[in-house]
Amino acid sequence: MKQSTGSHKTRTSIWAGIALSTLTLSTVAHAAGDEALVIPADSNQIAYPAGWQNWSVIASSHRTDNNTLRVILGNDIAIKAARQGHTLPWPDGAVLGKVVWKATALPSWPAAVAPGELVHTEFMFKDSKRFQDSYGWGFGRWLGMAQTPFNEGNQSCIACHTPVKDNDWVFTEPARFPSTGVSH
Ligand code: HEC
Repeated sequence: MKQSTGSHKTRTSIWAGIALSTLTLSTVAHAAGDEALVIPADSNQIAYPAGWQNWSVIASSHRTDNNTLRVILGNDIAIKAARQGHTLPWPDGAVLGKVVWKATALPSWPAAVAPGELVHTEFMFKDSKRFQDSYGWGFGRWLGMAQTPFNEGNQSCIACHTPVKDNDWVFTEPARFPSTGVSH
C-alpha cells in the first residue's frame, strides 16, 4: 500500500510537471505567434502577402552572374494554374513570389550550393482591373530578413521583364512535377 501511495505521489508530480511545461510551451507559442503577426508595410502600395512562407514551389533558379539561388513560389491560384499549364495568361488572383538568397557552399558537402543570406523577396500580383496600367500585374519587393518595403515604383521591374511580355511578363517556366498522388 505504501508503495502505491508513493507511486500516486510520483504520478501527481509528473502531471503537475506536464501541466507546467504545457503552460510554458503555450506562452512561448503565443509569443512566437505574435512575432509572426508583425506584417511589413506596403511596397508600391501593395499589401504584404502574409503567409507566403507556406506556399508551394513553381520552380527554382540559380543566377550565375550574381551567384544567388531563387525559389519561385505561388499562392493556391498560381499553383493550380502552373500545374495545369494555364499560365498564358495567369489567372486573376494569382500571386507569384520569388525568394532570393546568396548561394553558399554547404559545409557538409562543399560542392553543393545552398541558400545562405536572404537578399529579398519579390512578388507579382495578377489583377487585370486594379493593375490595368501595368499590364495586369502589381509588383512588390521586400528587403532582407526585416522585409523592409521597396517603394521606388514598378518601372524598373516592368522594364526588366519586358523581354517576356509575350509570356504574360513572366520569365519562369514552371518546373515539371509528376501528377502522381495529387489532384489539382
Ligand atoms: C535586372 C532585371 C530585373 C529586374 C529589375 C526585376 N526583375 Fe523580376 N525577374 C528577372 C528575371 C531574369 C527573372 C527570372 C529569373 C530568376 O531570377 O529566377 C525574374 C523573375 C521574377 C519573378 C518570378 C516570376 C517570373 O517572372 O519569372 C518575380 C515575382 C519577379 N521577378 C518580380 C520582380 C519585381 C517585383 C521587380 C521590381 C521590384 C523585379 N522583378 C525586377 C529580372 C528582373
